[in-house]
Amino acid sequence: MDKLIIQGGNRLNGEVTISGAKNAALPILCASLLAETPLKLSGVAALKDIDTTIKLLGIMGVKIARNGSEVSLDASEVASFEATYEMVKTMRASILVLGPLLARFGTARVSLPGGCAIGSRPVDLHIKGLQAMGAAIHITHGYIQASTLHLPNRRLQGARYYMDLVTVTGTENLMMAAALAEGTTVLENAAKEPEVVDLAEMLIKMGANISGAGTDVITIVGVDKLNGTTHNIVCDRIEAGTYMVAVAMTGGEVKLLNARADLLDAVIEKLREAGATVTSHQNSITVKSDGKLKAVNIRTAPHPAFPTDMQAQFMALNTVAEGVAKVTETIFENRFMHVQEMQRMGADISIDGNTALVKGIEFLDGATVMATDLRASASLVLAGLVARGETVIERIYHLDRGYEHLESKLNALGANVRRV
Ligand code: EPZ
Repeated sequence: MDKLIIQGGNRLNGEVTISGAKNAALPILCASLLAETPLKLSGVAALKDIDTTIKLLGIMGVKIARNGSEVSLDASEVASFEATYEMVKTMRASILVLGPLLARFGTARVSLPGGCAIGSRPVDLHIKGLQAMGAAIHITHGYIQASTLHLPNRRLQGARYYMDLVTVTGTENLMMAAALAEGTTVLENAAKEPEVVDLAEMLIKMGANISGAGTDVITIVGVDKLNGTTHNIVCDRIEAGTYMVAVAMTGGEVKLLNARADLLDAVIEKLREAGATVTSHQNSITVKSDGKLKAVNIRTAPHPAFPTDMQAQFMALNTVAEGVAKVTETIFENRFMHVQEMQRMGADISIDGNTALVKGIEFLDGATVMATDLRASASLVLAGLVARGETVIERIYHLDRGYEHLESKLNALGANVRRV
């Protein structure tokens, strides 16, 4: 198992290029199943989760050519409509093939995703939405068995569906399903994340009739078929936010290329409140800091509020900021796994339910720590960048799921990170 060894104390300076968003690429790759002709994507990051999705689609019969960050997918001859447990257990976002398979082929057999480190991660809202559109769904032996063969023209029927909770992949799954349904679907309490908007923009280019993406009511008027198109994946706002917190903590000045400030309002506001200087340009963001930060309170919530995927990174920031901060996680029930690892580095954090109280200290001490989930791993890297001495992070396969070339990007900015 790979580990990262970090010598703390270096300031970060220079430029870093942000990759295409993992959480936009995953649904967009699955949307290839909806198209009768090839889909050509650019800005597809080299990430484990993206490799997994491409492998899953390949097994189904999608013809895929990948050249660096360009991927073309041809789903004209899909032969299998199944996502097995083996595939889904490594990446729960595989659930995103369910909507497209049902919409285009009328049948799907998708393993229920297990939970993961940060929570049970149910998919009940995905299933209820598809049932509202007429799908017959049975859960047997850990699999979702879904069909529309009993429906008029064997097609999903447009419906009005209110989602009890804001769900990102739930919104994406149902939007893809509705694109080829008969009639109009209205999704209420829809997720407004930029990755949902990027998927909608691509579906519209494929011929879908969608309005309201980015608001909490999305209306989809079903069409008979969708064609391939070309699409460049939106930049990864969470990767960008992670590097912005890194330089805020270490001190220095870093310009992020291929980064959009308009996707990060809540994060930028908190970085400025902590004392960093953030300026933005057309397609880049510059962060400058002397490394002496003030504690900032964080409360996660659906976009455009503060993103849960940046909670662990700001926990790291608060461990060495001046003052006391409250960090409240409202989205997932178990997203404080990084806390006990930071405590091993000397952090002063106490947890009460879904709120952590963080008292800033002068220095963290390097230690051997263990990554548990994607963003927790990133927060331990940030802690290692400012800790005294050496930090060893184990099980960094979590990092490789969501951060492209992390150590080379950080070392190019002046960090001292080795992968062994
Ligand atoms: C997406 O996960 C992201 N993943 C997550 O990023 C992100 O943390 C999350 O949205 C919240 O922003 C992808 O986009 C691939 P949800 P998703 O459905 O869609 C509950 C990362 O680090 N819920 O918005 O699975 C659920 O338990 C990953 O890149 C139900 O109860 O999250 C959670 O408490 C981690 N029933 C809340 O809703 C459902 O049917 C939000 O989950 C669906 C969700």
